[in-house]
Amino acid sequence: MTQHLSKKTHFSGPETETQKYGTVVSRPLSLDHRVRLASADNLNPILADTMTLRDMYKKHHWQVAGPTFYQLHLLFDKHFGEQAEIVDALAERIQTLGGVAIAMAHDVAETTRIARPPRGSEDVSVQLFRLLQAHELIIDATREAARAAGESGDAGTNDLLVSDVLRVNELQVWFVSQQIAGTGIAGAEEEASHSVPRLTLKTTA
Ligand SMILES: [Fe+2]
Repeated sequence: MTQHLSKKTHFSGPETETQKYGTVVSRPLSLDHRVRLASADNLNPILADTMTLRDMYKKHHWQVAGPTFYQLHLLFDKHFGEQAEIVDALAERIQTLGGVAIAMAHDVAETTRIARPPRGSEDVSVQLFRLLQAHELIIDATREAARAAGESGDAGTNDLLVSDVLRVNELQVWFVSQQIAGTGIAGAEEEASHSVPRLTLKTTA
């Protein structure tokens, strides 16, 4: 008789879990349980946001249109690849600390703080705005988590967040920002006034 694995529903419940999400198991890292738990708790939302940004880059890589199509098509895919590397580094840091890395799309969608874009295509200016807004959110969270990790003695997490997450996101913001001239995304006048730049989308009637 043919066996259909898809019909075996007993693999879908929490009873199959060997470790609950949000917990850390012991690791001989000379780091207190509470420190590892706090670091893992801070890393998982950043992981979910990074997975979302990674996928947003691919969405825009596919859906971009217009006279800047080719350069943006290539740029978005390059940044997608770099974000994918960050995803792996964050997830493996969480596992290294004894935690459980968030992984599946359903859980990522419930956890990310990045606003959900529509399924359909959007104008280049909106695509760029969404990317910069997502980067800014991740940069804010990364600086805060890096500071907390450093203060708690988790130098490894601090280094990962600063060297691999923060700097790459800052660099990508530079490259994406160079594409915004004439697209209606605010920024230049805020920089000129030395205020803390916050992204706003200028709406046209
Ligand atoms: Fe492609």
